[in-house]
Amino acid sequence: MRVDLSTPVGDVELRSPVLTAAGTSGYGDELAAYGDLAALGAVVVKSLASYPWEGNPAPRVSSSGMHMLNSVGLTGPGVEAWRATYLGALEARGAKVVGSIWGRSVTEYKDAARAMKGANVVALEVNASCPNLENRSSMFAHSASATRAIVSASKVAGLPLWVKLSPNTPDLIEIAGAAIKAGASALVLVNTVLGLGIDIEHRRTSLASGGGGVSGPGILPVSLRAVFDCRAAYPDAAIVGVGGITSGEDAVAMLMAGANAVEVGTASFANPRAAWLVQRGIEKWMRRHRVAYVTDLVGVAHG
Ligand SMILES: Cc1cc2nc3c(=O)[nH]c(=O)nc-3n(C[C@H](O)[C@H](O)[C@H](O)COP(=O)(O)O)c2cc1C
Repeated sequence: MRVDLSTPVGDVELRSPVLTAAGTSGYGDELAAYGDLAALGAVVVKSLASYPWEGNPAPRVSSSGMHMLNSVGLTGPGVEAWRATYLGALEARGAKVVGSIWGRSVTEYKDAARAMKGANVVALEVNASCPNLENRSSMFAHSASATRAIVSASKVAGLPLWVKLSPNTPDLIEIAGAAIKAGASALVLVNTVLGLGIDIEHRRTSLASGGGGVSGPGILPVSLRAVFDCRAAYPDAAIVGVGGITSGEDAVAMLMAGANAVEVGTASFANPRAAWLVQRGIEKWMRRHRVAYVTDLVGVAHG
């Protein structure tokens, strides 16, 4: 049986609902040795500022079976250097590319978005889960007004804006609504969950910077809940689900919760073929259940 994996995310038509997640597959075609990047829905590259940034001191990653904890701190070459050095490799592979930007102030988001103008990307993720230096370092994505401000500022890119939100807030629905009102063409749900580890042998935190973000299979219920609740609140919104997806079944659950597409992140560290395996897993599940169009799965868990 032939199955159709193509799915729209807002105005962007994707050939598959499976994308890579920002920060987990590099800046360019690093995963190309493991599969055909053009066969995925899109490659979402690591978030970039308008300037080069070193990130946090090491150790900045630790992991257990069910989760990973990281405080990589958005290290990167900056948008301009990325366009000159990395984007071409993805273009040569025929991959659809989603850029990603971050900033520490509204102006920095605007600068990064402006630097993305004209880039050969199908959309721009606005990583709103960054500390806002102008507001006592609280995250942009924890405030509806701050989220609205960075989405509005990022319009200067002239690209469809996918706004990536944090699960670490009781106000997710209101903040998602603010993003949509400000012009987001899709919600990306979710970034990492705030966490911390203790290295008991050295009697200190496992990461040099203290706490970090939790990702991996343990957070799947968190991302499913965020997608389910936002789909219920915004039936017409485009939603990309991310967080803890390691199998085709996880991805099918995310689609049923209301996502139009999914991103595979931490699973790619354990197995760099993970995104393709998830894609094949969706196909197999659809064949087994006689589902011809992946779009027929979106939101069905809402009854
Ligand atoms: C090492 C690492 C780096 C990440 N870097 C970024 C980033 O640059 N921008 C971003 O929006 N999310 C970043 N994330 C978050 C992921 O894109 C994703 O939202 C999160 O890890 C949950 O998905 P997962 O459980 O499949 O990894 C990063 C995650 C990890 C583990």
